[in-house]
Amino acid sequence: MKKTLSMLAVAAVISAATPAFASEAEVPPHQKWPHQGVFGTYDKAALQRGFQVYKEVCAACHSMKLLSYRDLTQLGYTPEQVKTVAAEYQIPDGPNDEGEMFERPGRPADRFHSPFPNDKAARAANGGALPPDMSLLSKAREHGDDYIYSILTGYEEKPAGFDLMPGLNYNKYFAGHQIAMAKPLNEGQVTYTDGTANTLEQQARDVTQFLAWASEPHMEQRKGMGLKVMIFMLAFCGIMVAAKRKLWADIH
Ligand code: HEC
Repeated sequence: MKKTLSMLAVAAVISAATPAFASEAEVPPHQKWPHQGVFGTYDKAALQRGFQVYKEVCAACHSMKLLSYRDLTQLGYTPEQVKTVAAEYQIPDGPNDEGEMFERPGRPADRFHSPFPNDKAARAANGGALPPDMSLLSKAREHGDDYIYSILTGYEEKPAGFDLMPGLNYNKYFAGHQIAMAKPLNEGQVTYTDGTANTLEQQARDVTQFLAWASEPHMEQRKGMGLKVMIFMLAFCGIMVAAKRKLWADIH
C-alpha cells in the first residue's frame, strides 16, 4: 500500500513537471497499407503512380541518393522505359581527358539525380531548411507511412492565436506544427497515365507507398523467406512428434 502511494506521488510529480506541450505534433492516424502485415505485398500500380508523383513534384527539392534508375524495373517498368527515364536527366561526370567535369544524359546504372549540388545549396533555396533525402525517410520516421501521408494531407489554416513564424506553414502533424515545406501536393496536381483519379489523398497514398518501397525494396523476398522458414519448422515439428510416438510406442 505504502509502495503504491509513493508510486502515485512520483507519477504526480512527473506529470506536474511535464505540462502538456501545446505545440507537440498530433500522432498520425493509422491507415491500412497493402504492404503491411505478414502477407503484405507492394501494389505495383500504386508504386508507379507514386514514382510519377515523386518525379514530377517532390524531386524538385528532395534527393533519393540511394536509388538507381535500374531499381525501377522492380516497379514493373521495362528496361527500355528505365533507359528513357534515366536519359531525361543530366548527370555530372568526369573528369574527361582535359581534366574537366562534364554532364551527360543519365544511364540506368546511375543514382537518382539530386536537385541540388550540396546541402548548403538545398538550404539556400528553401529558406534555410533542408529537404531531407527520401531514400530511407519512410523507415527513419516512426510510423513512417502514416507520418508521410499525414504531413502531405495535414496542411491547415493556423488556429487563431497560433504564432506562426514568417516563411513557415501550419501543419497538424509536423513537430511544432510549423514546417518550412509549402504544401507540396494539391488536388489534381499530377495527371496519372493510368487514369486514376488524382485527388490529394490518392496522390499522397501513392507517393507514400513509393517511399515505403524505396526504403525497403526487398521486403517481399524477406517476408517470403520468413514464411518458408515457418512452414519448414511446422513440418519438421510434425515429423519429430511422429518419430517420438513411434519410438516410445513400445515402452509402457
Ligand atoms: C519546394 C521544395 C519541396 C518540395 C517540392 C517538396 N518538399 Fe518536402 N520538404 C521540403 C523542405 C524544405 C522540408 C524540411 C521542412 C522543415 O524542416 O521544416 C521538407 C520536409 C518534408 C517532410 C518532413 C520530413 C521530416 O524530416 O520529417 C516530408 C514527409 C516531405 N517533405 C515530403 C515531401 C513529399 C512526399 C513531396 C512530394 C509530394 C515533397 N516533400 C515535396 C521541401 C520540399
